[in-house]
Amino acid sequence: MTVITQVEDLRVLAQKRVPRMFYDYADSGSWTESTYRANEADFHKIKFRQRVAVNMEGRSTASTMVGQEVTMPVALAPTGLTGMQHADGEILAARAARAFGVPFTLSTMSICSIEDVAKHAGEGFWFQLYVMKDRAFIERLIDRAKAARCGALVLTLDLQILGQRHKDLRNGLSAPPKLTLRNILNIATKPGWALGMLGTPRRQFGNIIGHVSGVADMGSLSEWTASQFDPALNWGDVEWIKKRWGGKLILKGIQDVEDARLAAQSGADALIVSNHGGRQLDGAQSSIEALPAIVDAVGRQIEVHMDGGIRSGQDVLKAIALGAKGTYIGRAFLYGLGAMGEAGVTRVLQIMHKELDLSMAFCGRTRVETVNREILLPGTYPTA
Ligand code: GLV
Repeated sequence: MTVITQVEDLRVLAQKRVPRMFYDYADSGSWTESTYRANEADFHKIKFRQRVAVNMEGRSTASTMVGQEVTMPVALAPTGLTGMQHADGEILAARAARAFGVPFTLSTMSICSIEDVAKHAGEGFWFQLYVMKDRAFIERLIDRAKAARCGALVLTLDLQILGQRHKDLRNGLSAPPKLTLRNILNIATKPGWALGMLGTPRRQFGNIIGHVSGVADMGSLSEWTASQFDPALNWGDVEWIKKRWGGKLILKGIQDVEDARLAAQSGADALIVSNHGGRQLDGAQSSIEALPAIVDAVGRQIEVHMDGGIRSGQDVLKAIALGAKGTYIGRAFLYGLGAMGEAGVTRVLQIMHKELDLSMAFCGRTRVETVNREILLPGTYPTA
């Protein structure tokens, strides 16, 4: 029995348990994967200032994200096909997040539908929106998220076209998987995963199939995205979506200071500094490197959140120190889910919480809300 002490242990287990097509989908970046790797590597360049003999009693990692109280400033990021990492994956992850006191964000491209997650994991989770050409469908999606009392709408702005991920093309990524000889042979080596999948009716894109006329089979993910997502998406669309939604709005996928200014002017409640986990523009700078300039430019007008490369509580602490009000984990929670289902996601949250709490204390702080750049060693962190 493996002793699990870090997120990496769960990644190794997930790789064993999840069919190659879906593990690869989660764990890859676009083209050369240089941005995907930089997201993690740039965190490691940043050094803390250790402080000693500071009273470390009564610590708290509690904070808020868009006004919502959180046990720690870490939300579960929207990730596509989560229900293919583990049967009923979105429901399980939403339950784990709720029990822990952090937001879960359901992707448009989820397997379990909005209604299904609301019924089996409770209402109030956040919903991530992709804008497709079929605007009537988008309006219905927004209304469905409202009906499930979603606490925030996370509008993704960096995926109106899809970055190329070599492994997905090679694997012929689709949900459910096509029963090619290669897939059958691979799935045969993953009996735990397969048994779960046989026991659930949720094997297709739950928010889409049955809600868009003429869409019964989405073919390969890359073809479907290219034909349905709206390449014309622009700031005018942000305005109508904000109006139609009427609740907390978070804009995801901001990398550039100019775009951050437009996001702040749009009246959204938060923006997420993100390069989509290095899955879109390969060669873009890492999220943690992009963060300080955006915080300096718009941090007083809009909450700045970030994702990309977070695998530990130390990473969370560094992002908070550089001005992020909140962070998101994508792959990190998927590893836990793929490895052990709901218990695995809970384990990831526990591991990160402990790492955050202890590292914060080593830096001489007892409350996450007081963390700032002073806990970092000058010269080791990116600046504006
Ligand atoms: C979708 O969000 C993807 O990155 O595949």
